[in-house]
Amino acid sequence: MNRKYRKTVIAGNWKMNKTPSETKEFMTQLKAILPKGRWCDIALCVPAVCIPAAVRAMRETRVGIGAENCNPNPSGAYTGEISTAMLTDAGCKYVIIGHSERRAMGETDADVNAKVTAALDAGLIPIMCCGESLEQREADITEEWITTQIKLGLAGVSEERIRKVIIAYEPIWAIGTGRTATPEQAEDVCKLIRTVVRKLYNSKSARAISILYGGSMNDKNAYELLAQPDIDGGLIGGASLVPEKFVKIIEAANQPAV
Ligand code: 13P
Repeated sequence: MNRKYRKTVIAGNWKMNKTPSETKEFMTQLKAILPKGRWCDIALCVPAVCIPAAVRAMRETRVGIGAENCNPNPSGAYTGEISTAMLTDAGCKYVIIGHSERRAMGETDADVNAKVTAALDAGLIPIMCCGESLEQREADITEEWITTQIKLGLAGVSEERIRKVIIAYEPIWAIGTGRTATPEQAEDVCKLIRTVVRKLYNSKSARAISILYGGSMNDKNAYELLAQPDIDGGLIGGASLVPEKFVKIIEAANQPAV
């Protein structure tokens, strides 16, 4: 990470876990042990029905609440969907877009791009995910794949708005498997993403954008991953469900910036 030029962000992705009552309980426990230092931004992206409880509980804290998906349309006949305006009105600051678990349900790069644009229009911070499968890594096409995902996901995003986007690199083979990318593997791809942003925009934007790593990040491996120059934080699944573990990852971000 590099705190001089960009923010460090520790974000949780709860996926389909916890009820509103459990959310309230978690937030009470988290608040009791939340570090006071402000070395990083903290986000918790929770299931839609848990957003009100999370926002209420964390109102007086520095923890920003986020959603795990959004619909890019402003309103209308989209049964079961949630618009960006609904999320901001509910108190969300962030929204995860293009997670591999959603891409596996059919979300395309064009969908991701429409959602990133809608999120930015609404004033939400999009956490745009990318990542390769094990087959793609073994076929040596990681670089090409990630480059395409970034280019298509950011299509039409202006230079003024690119700094508001957070990118998360989540190799699919490392998600929920306990098989973390090595710090070198994660750094290589995060550095590549920064290079792609530099080519699409400019050096200033590339230097300012926060790029997170996600995939079995936990209280044990976070320090080493976050010590890499191009890894500006984490998008954490399993370990974000346990207050003590999540706090340890926040603490791991409190290290001399590279
Ligand atoms: P795990 O931390 O459970 O591997 O999940 C990572 C993830 O998908 C975060 O979005």
